[in-house]
Amino acid sequence: MSEQKETRPMSRSHTLQSHLVSPSDTNHLQTIFGGNVLAYIDEAAAIAAMRHSGEIVVTASVDSVDFHEAVKSGDLVNVEAWVATTGRTSMVVYVHVSVENPATGDTRTTATSFVTMVAIDDEGKPTEIPAVFGGTEEEEQIIELAHNRKNG
Ligand SMILES: CC(C)(COP(=O)(O)OP(=O)(O)OC[C@H]1O[C@@H](n2cnc3c(N)ncnc32)[C@H](O)[C@@H]1OP(=O)(O)O)[C@@H](O)C(=O)NCCC(=O)NCCS
Repeated sequence: MSEQKETRPMSRSHTLQSHLVSPSDTNHLQTIFGGNVLAYIDEAAAIAAMRHSGEIVVTASVDSVDFHEAVKSGDLVNVEAWVATTGRTSMVVYVHVSVENPATGDTRTTATSFVTMVAIDDEGKPTEIPAVFGGTEEEEQIIELAHNRKNG
């Protein structure tokens, strides 16, 4: 009889990081360098994958990044990440980047990304991870986005 693979809820990996954009983060148009947003995305994705797997992780690929709007100096940037789908040792992490107006609480999506993270054991080899499952409507939408992206 084959052993049942452990499963963990998507909520366990949910990660939220906030950043205040300073002038040194921006270019001559006073908008943020794309590389800084990529660094935010990579870090949030890594934390989400570590929370899901309980292992050290490495970035295998940044599968896609879409920049929807510019981010300016003084903006408050929120970076949210969830493990959306899992393989044997890899996790596809969905990352949503938005700008928040702290006065009103209004947010605008500025970037979205899918990042593949791989769990690594003490010897630096890929190691098996639990499968992920969603529950809420938002989580099911994220899983669908990840599957559509894979199949599209
Ligand atoms: C990612 C890495 C661990 C994969 O190692 P590997 O020996 O090729 O391992 P495998 O072929 O067994 O693949 C392991 C998993 O990674 C996935 N994978 C490997 N390369 C991938 C890629 N480029 N994109 C997406 N997934 C990838 C495989 O599909 C597999 O997933 P699964 O177990 O869920 O089916 C290895 O290539 C590595 O260490 N890369 C450098 C990572 C790094 O330093 N990142 C920071 C960059 S600055």
